[in-house]
Amino acid sequence: MQTPSLNLNRQEFGDPKNTGQVLTLSEAHDLLNDWVLNDRLKVHMKQVGHLMKAYALSIGLDSTAAHKWHLAGLLHDADWDQWPDQHCRKIIEELEARAIDAEIIRAIACHGPRYFGVDPRTPMDKMLYAFDELSGLVHAYSLMRPEGYAGMEVKGVKKRLKDKTFAAQVSREDIDDAAQRAEISVDELIAFVVAHQGSTDLA
Ligand SMILES: [Fe+2]
Ligand SMILES: [Fe+2]
Repeated sequence: MQTPSLNLNRQEFGDPKNTGQVLTLSEAHDLLNDWVLNDRLKVHMKQVGHLMKAYALSIGLDSTAAHKWHLAGLLHDADWDQWPDQHCRKIIEELEARAIDAEIIRAIACHGPRYFGVDPRTPMDKMLYAFDELSGLVHAYSLMRPEGYAGMEVKGVKKRLKDKTFAAQVSREDIDDAAQRAEISVDELIAFVVAHQGSTDLA
């Protein structure tokens, strides 16, 4: 899906003086709706945003911090639909032009270390990378189950992970790498995604 030319060739993003500057949820949705025409991609971005917010709250962060996590998830693929060869440079530059909090921009810049050449450093960076691919695989699994998310078990997801032909575009290597970097087991990650993604309010 992505090529090595996506390397961002830099390690610093945003300006520390913009700390605390965020988009409102409705501003973020406006950007998402302007830039992303593909409904499946919109669902993916909303799901990852929801997981990020839920995870931030689950580790005891306050709602201000959780909102930043939410925005990073919600916007991480904003340029993928229309400008795949500029992914994720274009959204980074847009958020820098809008003087948005550097932590959000950095998290987006490291959601694919193999492609963008930026290593996740903060918990927000690491969890965005960790949720990205797994979220898609779990969603694909829910679509093939008559019950959707209801009654979904970790072991069912693991079976699909092992079957390389299932959702073949999902990088198993990235999921393992991300879990290791986040120091969380793949089982725990799956359990979190299953528990929270099924209840995603996509509004
Ligand atoms: Fe991406
Ligand atoms: Fe993504």
